[in-house]
Amino acid sequence: MAPLPEHVLIRPLGSADIDQVVKLESHTFPSNERAGREKMRYRLHAAPELSSGMFVRVPTKKGRCSKRDCPRSQRSHSSDSASSTEKLIAFVIATKCATEYITDDALEIPEIDKEGYRKPTEVNCQRGHVETGNTIAVESICVDPEYQGMKLGTTILRDFVQRMSTQAVAGRVAILAREDMVPFYENLGFYDAGPSVVKFGGGGWHNLWISLEDSEVDD
Ligand SMILES: CC(C)(COP(=O)(O)OP(=O)(O)OC[C@H]1O[C@@H](n2cnc3c(N)ncnc32)[C@H](O)[C@@H]1OP(=O)(O)O)[C@@H](O)C(=O)NCCC(=O)NCCS
Repeated sequence: MAPLPEHVLIRPLGSADIDQVVKLESHTFPSNERAGREKMRYRLHAAPELSSGMFVRVPTKKGRCSKRDCPRSQRSHSSDSASSTEKLIAFVIATKCATEYITDDALEIPEIDKEGYRKPTEVNCQRGHVETGNTIAVESICVDPEYQGMKLGTTILRDFVQRMSTQAVAGRVAILAREDMVPFYENLGFYDAGPSVVKFGGGGWHNLWISLEDSEVDD
């Protein structure tokens, strides 16, 4: 495997990373396949533990992170936060769903009442993140174009699946993929279950899945 770029770290994403997430999504996905700020904010709020961000630590020019050069959301959380920023170069973002494969409802934001609770209609119960679901629905995986082809997509997805398996938060991981991307996921041990019914992004997706209960991610 190719070595990672210098000063790389992988950690779950949080609400403070939203600007970098939206920017990277806009650089990597065509407009009809983007979730956009509102959905990304919802997903990171509803299930931050089901996300992974890969960052490179970038030293700042003067050894200090000025407010102008470095918005608060991009400052390092480490002890030397005054001398570096974290640039997001890849991410995996997921929620959980109660179905075996990803549905259009899983990709939506649920309707919430004034008290902050999910409105209890049958359709609404399947919308967005379902905490009791047994499937981790990966809605987005991408790598900054500058870093593509360096196995970072492989690395972050393998790391994500292994963490999900260790934490035993669900029984399986599901992803939607265009046909040309199917081998990328099969090489990591995912199975192709054929065409998906999802219409998001114009449809034409394949359902990919991997069990977290009986397998390790392929090297
Ligand atoms: C798809 C993506 C995450 C892959 O990340 P990456 O770091 O460039 O991929 P890797 O270097 O780990 O590639 C691993 C293998 O997958 C193949 N691959 C990567 N992207 C591919 C693509 N778009 N189509 C077909 N094969 C692809 C590579 O050729 C490589 O094959 P090899 O092992 O035979 O050399 C990245 O290209 C990306 O962000 N694309 C735009 C967003 C996107 O399409 N996300 C996936 C939605 S299903």
